[in-house]
Amino acid sequence: AAVLLLWAAIGYLLGSIPTGVILARVMGLGDLRQIGSGNIGATNVLRTGNKTAAALTLLGDALKGAAAVLLARAMAAPDAVQIAALAAFLGHCFPVWLRFRGGKGVATFLGVVLALTPLGGAIACAIWALTAWIARMSSLAALLAAGWTPVVVILIGQGHLSLLTLALAILVYIRHAANIRRLRTGTEPRIGSKG
Ligand code: G3P
Repeated sequence: AAVLLLWAAIGYLLGSIPTGVILARVMGLGDLRQIGSGNIGATNVLRTGNKTAAALTLLGDALKGAAAVLLARAMAAPDAVQIAALAAFLGHCFPVWLRFRGGKGVATFLGVVLALTPLGGAIACAIWALTAWIARMSSLAALLAAGWTPVVVILIGQGHLSLLTLALAILVYIRHAANIRRLRTGTEPRIGSKG
């Protein structure tokens, strides 16, 4: 149990690194929480107009999730891997550094899933990219990618990940409550628009 708690803490600390907030500040783009949707993710960084910063945020937020999984896999028991994945995701959404007001978890979700199951992660990324390309809405892309992932992992024989990915998907939906409301009323902004 002590080992699981340790990996929960390591995962949480990694996940709680607010890549977007740090990059926006360092690159002189201002306080992300005062821009667009106020979210700390790559989609909102893109609203500053800086594509490099947005890409780096996406990469950083995914990498910290993947790092939590890969570190746990290299150093601990299999149970710890799923704990580290969940903790990294929660760290991103509820970082102590931002008074627990973090992001919506999409990039970190994709990062942990890619590290847990590269094929499943690639399929989730493909669903995300295809939806984003067709509908030009980041939130819709995230909701479809996260929602299909628990089904995808079962279909590709990674059923041991179904409960974890279901829990993560539910959290992604909860974090997108405002986006879901806007999607239903047809007022969700397109990718790159000021939001
Ligand atoms: O990654 C979050 C994205 O799905 C929505 O972000 O800023 O449009 O609420 P945002």
